[in-house]
Amino acid sequence: MEVLEDKLLNIGLPILLTLAVARLVYIFLSPRSPARLPPVIATWPVMGGVVRFLKGPVAVIREEYPKLGSVFTLNLLNKKITFLIGPEVSAHFFNGSESDLSQNEVYRFMVATLGPGVVYDVDYSVRLDQFRFCTEGLRANKLNGHVYQMLLETQWRGGHKTRVGPSDQPDSEQMSAERRSAKQALRRGVRSLRRPRQEYAQHQRPVPLPPHPGPPAPRPGPQEAQGGLRGDHSRAKAHRQIGERPAAVPDGYSRYRDGRPTTESEITGLLIGTLIAGRNTSSITATWTGAHLLSNKKYLPLVLHEQRNLVGKHGKKVDHDVLLEMEILYRCIKEALRLHPPQLLLRTSLSDFSVKTSEGKEYDVPKDHIIATSPAFANRLPHIYKDPDAFDPDRFAPGREDDKAAGAFSNISFGGGRHGCLGDAFAYLQIKATWSHLLRNFEVELVSPFPEIDWKSMVVGVKGKVMVRYKRRELPITH
Ligand code: HEM
Repeated sequence: MEVLEDKLLNIGLPILLTLAVARLVYIFLSPRSPARLPPVIATWPVMGGVVRFLKGPVAVIREEYPKLGSVFTLNLLNKKITFLIGPEVSAHFFNGSESDLSQNEVYRFMVATLGPGVVYDVDYSVRLDQFRFCTEGLRANKLNGHVYQMLLETQWRGGHKTRVGPSDQPDSEQMSAERRSAKQALRRGVRSLRRPRQEYAQHQRPVPLPPHPGPPAPRPGPQEAQGGLRGDHSRAKAHRQIGERPAAVPDGYSRYRDGRPTTESEITGLLIGTLIAGRNTSSITATWTGAHLLSNKKYLPLVLHEQRNLVGKHGKKVDHDVLLEMEILYRCIKEALRLHPPQLLLRTSLSDFSVKTSEGKEYDVPKDHIIATSPAFANRLPHIYKDPDAFDPDRFAPGREDDKAAGAFSNISFGGGRHGCLGDAFAYLQIKATWSHLLRNFEVELVSPFPEIDWKSMVVGVKGKVMVRYKRRELPITH
């Protein structure tokens, strides 16, 4: 009996020990082991996560980041969202390949707006071709061609009251409203180069800010009204709208790499997509820039001084090169956008991946999670930006450059990496053209209180209207 017990002990104990060690190895080291999953936000069962998320993703992150660190998961019914917050962990988000972190699933709702066969409804390689068609006109060497139009739009809008600021409709409704208005604009000819119909008015009565830098919606001419998008004429019109005259379109410009030409419906979808990508984003950034500038006693005089110097140097001419010299205005826009960038960027993980935090913790994020990062939160991290809630454009000035000092993905207003914004240079140019024109030609005064943030839309706008009073004036020149 004793011999049997000894045998059992000799064989059983090592087996038990081996199993225990294997379990520990599984728990702490093996991929997808529970111990290596990101911490999960504590919520009420079933609907708890949804209730938290509906209060606003940035509110969730603000509450959980100090407790859980830079990587954590929120259960949303049958979905899990894993947040990667801060440059230390978001590199994977921005650099991940499309086969690992895909946009198609999370941005699929856009297909209803853009139509089938466009951007998030096609393989990544086709999408890259489609972006190439759209962004050909946004290349640095083409940007100068847009400046005259930007100024013209500012003038045209300057004399008109326009609906500005975010809509309080839910996103999906807003999208279809965007689609309707974009479609109408396309039918009518988005970029009508008509002379401004009205010279500047003088508005002593407050008007909303800013003159909308989005496309104007001029009345259709008789031909345009009947024409719609048809045949060569419509394609030529579409090309004009993205900044190319048909004669200058190089062979194969709107052909896929396999030689297939684009269809009209694809061109329409891409134009609508470009409008959506660049319209509200730039408009809202222009509004925030104005609100910050007009209520800032230090930077408004500096920006005006810069404008006076430039008028002294170049006269009234404003072109691409002159706009590039507006460095203080550029930093003010960059800072307004740092404070008010898009709320959330999303992907879906199509494979498991690991991520290491700056504290050395390593997490395994499983496949099929929604992966999120938040420019609105990450752009205000205090270990990157001193006094992060303050409007301090000099943080981007030579000698400081806080964002560069902190490394890649420290300022993610325009996203970054593989899917970084393709229109950032265009957006800066447009907002600089708008504000330099307004400040050179008008004395503008903010008459409403500094706006609150409206967290209801993805591109965070202002709550209510930002009202300004303005009167014509010519900026005195500094020689
Ligand atoms: C202040 C203005 C703008 C802001 C804040 C902004 C922001 C962004 C952000 C954050 C992304 C990345 C989205 C993601 O990673 O999921 C993005 C992508 C993009 N943006 Fe912008 N954008 C602006 C203006 C524009 C303009 C004017 C255009 C074009 C005329 C444009 C075209 C695009 C395109 C085509 C992409 C997709 C790039 C890709 O997926 O590879 N954006 N933008």
